[in-house]
Amino acid sequence: MKATAKAHTNIALIKYWGKRDEPLILPMNNSLSLTLDGFHTTTSVAFQDRLTADQFYLNNRLVEGAESRRVSIFLDLIRKEAGRTDVCAEVHSTNHVPTAAGFASSASGFAALAAAASKAIGLPVNEQELSILTRQGSGSACRSIYGGFVEWEKGTKADGSDSHAVPVAPADHWDLRVAAVVLSSDEKKVLSREGMKRTVDTSPFYPAWVQSIPDDLEAIKEGIAEKDFEKVGEIAEANCLRMHATTLAANPPFSYWHSTTLSIMQAVRQLRSDGIPAFFTIDAGPNVKVLYTPEHEDIIRNTLQNVPGVHDIKVSRPGQGVSFI
Ligand code: PMV
Repeated sequence: MKATAKAHTNIALIKYWGKRDEPLILPMNNSLSLTLDGFHTTTSVAFQDRLTADQFYLNNRLVEGAESRRVSIFLDLIRKEAGRTDVCAEVHSTNHVPTAAGFASSASGFAALAAAASKAIGLPVNEQELSILTRQGSGSACRSIYGGFVEWEKGTKADGSDSHAVPVAPADHWDLRVAAVVLSSDEKKVLSREGMKRTVDTSPFYPAWVQSIPDDLEAIKEGIAEKDFEKVGEIAEANCLRMHATTLAANPPFSYWHSTTLSIMQAVRQLRSDGIPAFFTIDAGPNVKVLYTPEHEDIIRNTLQNVPGVHDIKVSRPGQGVSFI
């Protein structure tokens, strides 16, 4: 009853921002991401009769407290589905994601955990069912089941059985680059869960955000199909700015940006003025991801590295979906 799985993180080009159901993690809007090959998590799950409690090791260290409870609560879901509520697991997870640098590892983490745990317990799931399970661990993780460009369909059913990812274009469809610009090792002050809730509950801009999604999605999927880089980049950057605008209008207001975040945004705009197509996107934290095409690798790297406050740059290509080892 043991299995090991590997999953990559993903970056949303059309953001998931706001839940309509908190416990089931059902989103208000569809979202679309690119799975990245640069960051991944490998997780082994072994269900063992001798264990009386789950044990979760992250990067070879036993984890206790909230993080380990989150893993156990997720395993409860898998146990319930498999009709094996009696059996505990030893979980070993290795993150190849610079978590200390403020990058979220929950997407690759929950996708790898869901895949390894369901296989280890003998739960026969296809990719869609795996995406539904994964979603209940961490929303954006449901997109990491697939490689390349992926849409998360919000679904309409109350039980979440139609809220899952669907592949849009595989990793080898388009040779893009995403530079993850590492700024800070600060913990996020407003976690995405809390930030979403505050925005949904109080931001007068939130309804406009939700209304803007269908047009963005349709246009970006056209752009992806046509490999129209400017179109995809412009939509992704505008969508990111709109998401962050909702937080500024929340009560109390908040923002994920640092001064260096703004400097990078400005550097990317300057690149465009100089004729280099590059676009930024930002999740629920201060770090920036910059999208570009491979021929501009050198100038993009040099420009970003020279922005004061930038510590490191990690470049990814489109990555594969979840796999078993
Ligand atoms: O799945 P969570 O709770 O980590 O939320 C992710 C939210 C964003 O990263 C801001 C957007 C997204 O779609 O990934």
